[in-house]
Amino acid sequence: MNTIAIANQKGGCGKTTTAINLAAELGQRDKRVLLIDMDPQGHASLGLGIGERELPGLYEVFCDDAILPDVILKDVVAGVDLVAANILLATIEARLAGQPGRERLLLEQLEPFGAAYDYAVIDCPPSLGLLSINALRAAQQVISPVEASLFALDGIHQLQDIVNLLCQKYQLNLPVTVLPTMFDLHTRFAHTVLEQIRDQLPVAVSEVRIRHTVRIREAAYIGKPLNRYAPDCTAAMDYQRLADEVLEAGAQTAPSRNPLDMTVTTPQEGSTMGRVNPVAARQMIVLTFDDIDCRRLQLAGDFNNWIPDHDIETRKLDGHWQKVFTAEPGVYEYRLIIDGKWQHDPTNPAEIPNELGGINSLLQVPVHL
Ligand SMILES: Nc1ncnc2c1ncn2[C@@H]1O[C@H](COP(=O)(O)OP(=O)(O)O)[C@@H](O)[C@H]1O
Ligand SMILES: [Mg+2]
Repeated sequence: MNTIAIANQKGGCGKTTTAINLAAELGQRDKRVLLIDMDPQGHASLGLGIGERELPGLYEVFCDDAILPDVILKDVVAGVDLVAANILLATIEARLAGQPGRERLLLEQLEPFGAAYDYAVIDCPPSLGLLSINALRAAQQVISPVEASLFALDGIHQLQDIVNLLCQKYQLNLPVTVLPTMFDLHTRFAHTVLEQIRDQLPVAVSEVRIRHTVRIREAAYIGKPLNRYAPDCTAAMDYQRLADEVLEAGAQTAPSRNPLDMTVTTPQEGSTMGRVNPVAARQMIVLTFDDIDCRRLQLAGDFNNWIPDHDIETRKLDGHWQKVFTAEPGVYEYRLIIDGKWQHDPTNPAEIPNELGGINSLLQVPVHL
């Protein structure tokens, strides 16, 4: 999964518009996209017609027992699932003050979704506090919308400073690309500002410019992305080009390891596995966890598409947890969710690093003759 943070601490520069329309455009092209609204004002949710109710979102995940799948709204537009935001998110800084690891809460929640989504797009709030830091920590790239006006440039230096700090501290490579927005092709002023952006900023500038059009406000008002509301307007075409740019950049980086690859067993000619009827080959698995003292234990892995406890029966016997499910022979990666926190299985020494720097546990299901 490629995680893109849409960040700039300045309000009104086009972050939410970019998050919605980039996500919708990637979704339209058959990519599986998770759009995460990280702004307590919930504008990304509103812009997709969701938000007349106070929906649970990241606040409930970070501060209560909820886990990410509990708060994902499926298919809000084609190909796009949404994590909505509510105003409680504004209190997160105070609620999590002093908690160790609080800047990597989002990363930990996203870790297991490597196989379920192609892209996560995060709409950041207009500040560089804990929420934006969580987004940057989880991201592989940052798109920073900048309104093509002179004083819009200041913020980028600050954003770049924070990104540099994070990169040093966690040894990350987090490229920032500036995206000029609300661009008026017909004024010389806009072109002057664009030249200044290119000359003065120490960051890459997208080849795409999002043009100014009244259609954007109209689309937000009725709660639809541009590709549904006005697919032929200038900015809709600009967001198509931005999606092209993102997809091209993704194609140039090495493909990440997909944990699902491990479940694919290619039977050899005449091998036992080749002759086994695939239905009969499903094994019943009973995993017993002795020393895990918790209120809620969930299991997610390759075998259930990383959806916690999907197709799994949970038993609790004399204080021992048991998870019962079926799977075909093969090697599977999995993680436990212990009271809402994703982690590897502490009772299983067989483990493997995952693509996001964490650890997955391994389960081998043998062939029964
Ligand atoms: N290209 C554009 N043309 C015209 N209006 C735009 C454009 N991009 C954003 N807007 C409008 O500008 C305002 C701020 O945009 P928004 O995406 O909410 O910014 P942010 O999330 O950075 O605060 C919104 O009313 C939005 O409809
Ligand atoms: Mg916004």
